[in-house]
Amino acid sequence: MSYSIKELLEKQPVGDSVEVNGWVKTFRSNRFIALNDGSTIHNLQCVVDFENFDEALLKKISTGAALKITGELVESQGRGQSVEIQATDVFVHGTADPETYPIQPKKHSLEFLREKAHLRVRTNTFAAVMRVRSALSFAVHQYFQQNGFYYMHAPIITGSDAEGAGEMFRVTTLDAQKPPVDEAGAVDYSEDFFGKETNLTVSGQLEAETYAMGLGKVYTFGPTFRAENSNTSRHLAEFWMIEPEMAFFDLDANMDLAEDFIKNIIQYVLENCKDDLEFLENRLLDEEKSKPQAERSEMALLEKLKFVVDNNFKRVSYTEAIEILKNSKPNKKKKFQFPIEEWGADLQSEHERFLVEKHFKCPVILFDYPANIKAFYMRLNEDGKTVRAMDVLFPGIGEIVGGSQREERLDVLQQKIKELDIDEKELWWYLDLRKFGTAVHSGFGLGFERMVQFATGMGNIRDVIPYPRTPQNAEF
Ligand code: 4AD
Ligand code: MG
Repeated sequence: MSYSIKELLEKQPVGDSVEVNGWVKTFRSNRFIALNDGSTIHNLQCVVDFENFDEALLKKISTGAALKITGELVESQGRGQSVEIQATDVFVHGTADPETYPIQPKKHSLEFLREKAHLRVRTNTFAAVMRVRSALSFAVHQYFQQNGFYYMHAPIITGSDAEGAGEMFRVTTLDAQKPPVDEAGAVDYSEDFFGKETNLTVSGQLEAETYAMGLGKVYTFGPTFRAENSNTSRHLAEFWMIEPEMAFFDLDANMDLAEDFIKNIIQYVLENCKDDLEFLENRLLDEEKSKPQAERSEMALLEKLKFVVDNNFKRVSYTEAIEILKNSKPNKKKKFQFPIEEWGADLQSEHERFLVEKHFKCPVILFDYPANIKAFYMRLNEDGKTVRAMDVLFPGIGEIVGGSQREERLDVLQQKIKELDIDEKELWWYLDLRKFGTAVHSGFGLGFERMVQFATGMGNIRDVIPYPRTPQNAEF
């Protein structure tokens, strides 16, 4: 019978004749094949008695080769595994020339593996990360589906700039060399495919709002694109975002949901990805050995994940946070690259990380930010200068969630759009929501890759998505 290695190791049908397929991790002493098929972090040991096999066949077995192995499952005499296959037949699907196959059984740097992104999922680290990523996606859908949300597919190509930050990738079929021009000499987009300027979406929020105002509670989960020239370990030009949007939710309800959601999906991977998380925890401990004590994490990976699930996130207003930062040691000693001088300053990741990692030592939700450092759609507070925004800040990551209560008052929203010089015509449909049955509503966006980073302990966002898109890099 044919099994995946995961099934075989769970069932352990000792005495049965079994068949497995997979790739060779190692081949020792011309006798022991460690085979992995991607179903689990664990390899299956397959014993070939070389005396019974053709030498030409044995020569084809090397790291990376794809094999089908048939034989009896027996209890293992060796240490490290409880069962193994005593091979009677080995079929070579495909060889992997050791002279040229780059993924050899030794330590490869993550930088090296990024250049081999099409093969890196054959390493233990990437296979574990991608299994956790898959489990997290499932957990996201499960959470929302069990809590009365409908999955909504927001468009990828849009005419609007949801965040108003102007960081968009243009979508066009016009000839880049010779675009049509109007009388004034400007590119004439009325001749473009959609008859107007379009771009890849930076967020599905605005469309999700329209659906929340009909279906009640919705969420999106799709790719979003930002042409921001940020070469950091936490930014991608193409990333996946989860955006729940809820009618009749105020900011407090929004924060409650964000906290419950995050805890739930982390709990899911704790329960369902134990082996991979243990592997990743050890990988991290190993990696950190080479770092000075002060830079090592205070908690190991599993402990850190459990800590988030078990503890309340600290909720702090922006104004309180600024006071804490102003009076903090690094600010007084001029250790921040961007010193905090006064209320209104935008928070940089160094500030967010200080609050989370040094001051509160737990996840933090900051709320009520200054209006002028936040997007146009956020609800203005009574004070006239802050908005009902919230960011969830995580240790090692900084901002993992950004959200807000939305401005539901037509006049206030129109005023804001005018102040920011946004083209009201592009948003006519968004404004319609405030004309017809407007209501309090809220939502947030979780950066999926940042969550995968947190759950796996991976330091660079390029290592938690199969094919990262970053400035100057769209290989594969
Ligand atoms: O804070 P942001 O820009 O918020 C929005 O887009 C809102 N429309 C969300 C909403 O209210 N529905 O982005 C949300 C999250 C950030 O907190 C961060 O985790 C992630 O998306 N994010 C990125 N992740 C990877 N690379 C980038 N360039 C990212 N930009 C934002
Ligand atoms: Mg944000």
